[in-house]
Amino acid sequence: MEVVLAKSAGFCFGVKRAVETVYEQIREQEKAAAEGKKTLPIYTYGPIIHNEQVVEDLAKKGVKVLETPEDMENLQGDGIVIIRSHGVERSVYEKLQNKGLTVVDATCPFVKKIHNIVEKESRLGKKILIVGNPTHPEVQGIMGWCDGETVCIDDPEQAAKLTFKENEEVCLVSQTTFNHKKFKENGYNTNVADTICNATEERQTEARELASGADVMIVIGGAHSSNSRKLYEICREQCENTYFIQTLDDLHLELPKAARLVGITAGASTPNNIIEEVQSYVRRNF
Ligand code: F3S
Repeated sequence: MEVVLAKSAGFCFGVKRAVETVYEQIREQEKAAAEGKKTLPIYTYGPIIHNEQVVEDLAKKGVKVLETPEDMENLQGDGIVIIRSHGVERSVYEKLQNKGLTVVDATCPFVKKIHNIVEKESRLGKKILIVGNPTHPEVQGIMGWCDGETVCIDDPEQAAKLTFKENEEVCLVSQTTFNHKKFKENGYNTNVADTICNATEERQTEARELASGADVMIVIGGAHSSNSRKLYEICREQCENTYFIQTLDDLHLELPKAARLVGITAGASTPNNIIEEVQSYVRRNF
């Protein structure tokens, strides 16, 4: 039986960079402590990724998560606050800086690009149309860089109901992880910036291809990770024996007798060690 791990499984560039940033800050503080210098507490603005194991490991190393804006308001004294790859509203930087905290920005450069586009275009007077989930932190962050009118839509029905004034100028951007098929130009006086990140598209395409030939598919990802859930849905459409697990402990694998190919993929917030564990378990035991 063959076990194939998708090449694009696991951390995307932006998440890898954000997680490494936190470990780097931990190392710097440990070094300062060893040299008898002043150390600062480390906070992340929201969990750095949707992965409980990583967040727990960071907590053991003393990193605290600011879960709500009030947590930030209540912070006393010095500290380092790391902004995660999703990015945040402009006002969050301002508040952190006003409180005298050190901001370490791990916003993914692809998300930062969207902040720059909407800031510039909204200052030119354009209405900003965001295609994405309005409750997702990335979208809320993007909204927080717009200076004028902003509309957020996340399905074609909402797009069909949109009305624009004559000669109204519109700039359309998309949440980086939005589905390419749902993102279409609409014929208005619209400046479209295709800001969907290829990492997601590539991972989804590879998962679809792998699942279409697999007898069993395993998707590893955090329970709250929307990109991992999406990956599961894509694989499930192609392969009815698709498992969605967070770690090896969740895997109760039952292989059909004639199974010849097991495919494995993982969401953007799944660390390599978990992927490796699952992969070697399947290779060893089946
Ligand atoms: Fe960045 Fe794309 Fe990942 S936008 S955080 S590299 S999914």
